[in-house]
Amino acid sequence: MKIHTLKLNSQASMLTTALLAYGTTAWSADLPTLRDAFKDHFLVGTAINRAVTTGRGFRRSSEQVNTDIALVKAQFNQVVAENEMKWDSLHPRPGADGYDFRAADAFVSFGLNNNMYLVGHTLVWHSQTPHWVFAGTNPPPNTASAAPGTNRFGRYNGPRASREELLQRMRDHIHTVVGRYKGKIKVWDVVNEALSDGGTNTLRTSLWTEIIGPDFIAKAFQYAHEADPDAILRYNDYGLESSAKRRKLIALIQSLQAQKVPVHAIGSQTHVSVAWPSFAEMDRALTEMATLGLPIHITELDVNSAEGGQRSFGADIANNAATTQGGLVSDADRKLAEAYAGLFRAFLKHDPQVKMVTFWGPNDANSWRANGKPLLFDGNSQPKPAFHAVLAEAKRAAAAK
Ligand code: XIL
Repeated sequence: MKIHTLKLNSQASMLTTALLAYGTTAWSADLPTLRDAFKDHFLVGTAINRAVTTGRGFRRSSEQVNTDIALVKAQFNQVVAENEMKWDSLHPRPGADGYDFRAADAFVSFGLNNNMYLVGHTLVWHSQTPHWVFAGTNPPPNTASAAPGTNRFGRYNGPRASREELLQRMRDHIHTVVGRYKGKIKVWDVVNEALSDGGTNTLRTSLWTEIIGPDFIAKAFQYAHEADPDAILRYNDYGLESSAKRRKLIALIQSLQAQKVPVHAIGSQTHVSVAWPSFAEMDRALTEMATLGLPIHITELDVNSAEGGQRSFGADIANNAATTQGGLVSDADRKLAEAYAGLFRAFLKHDPQVKMVTFWGPNDANSWRANGKPLLFDGNSQPKPAFHAVLAEAKRAAAAK
């Protein structure tokens, strides 16, 4: 029985049918697709890793990788590299010879060969940035601040570059990377996660703020705009469902706009949980973000179903492991479906502003929060009830027109 051909007149019965059928349907190429269901509203994308772009698995068999690839091609019309365009991947060593474009080039070829809209992630971030970027001859301050690490090996604490040196490195990096993919990568995450989580400071303390100062953000956008004047330049952050963090976002973007900095879109990561936010909370978040007058991109969507992730809205990669501990919440499939339905109802309500919805991985096996089973397809690329719940929201929107 093909569950997607059943005509159901209410979302509730659709969900029940999907729950009953879950696990019994093989993944098939004639499943309805997210890209088609939302084609009148927004692009639907996914982050992909190098197994998907090269066909060579690391922890997965070649059969599993092939299924992952088939799923990506069938369901999505936009892709972003999960790690392959971060500074530590693209530019691991100093200087013009220090670039390694192999993984990023494979990503770009994959996207172009499959007619997908390409997003680049990310030019300037406090994480996954090599130590050499910040190194120089100026002594570090005596009091080590609580700024987070630059990568998983910890924060760089040695002698530092000057402001001018770091600006020069940032400009070279941005010009080289954006220039190489000009016309192919349509959207760039220029600055990632610059806002602070707690307290009253707008910006998080990082080696970028300590060495350059708060204008590192404006400079990064200016350099990216020089390198590709046609690219859509995005500011990307997490936790924007929280009103306190959203206030900081609005303050930051308004200040950039007042300085005529070329920021063209808001990226809202949307690493959320089944407990939060509801439709109403997401509706409010989008309403407030829309006051900035910029397109909104949902950039890293996943909905954590693990107990450990239900009270946190953060996405700091340093704390990630804890968010998927404690097993799944009870009735996880149904709660996930309901949470996704609420989120997509809000995205659809705001579809003049919401131009793109990107999942942070195609299926649960390829998720950074795999234990939290946060995506629409399970590890074998079988559609979960949440997939059908999301499609039901597209149908509901079409019927309401
Ligand atoms: C994550 C990747 O998914 C992991 O594979 C990697 O180990 C750490 O980074 N916010 C971001 C993404 O902007 O780049 C992060 O991606 C998830 C949080």
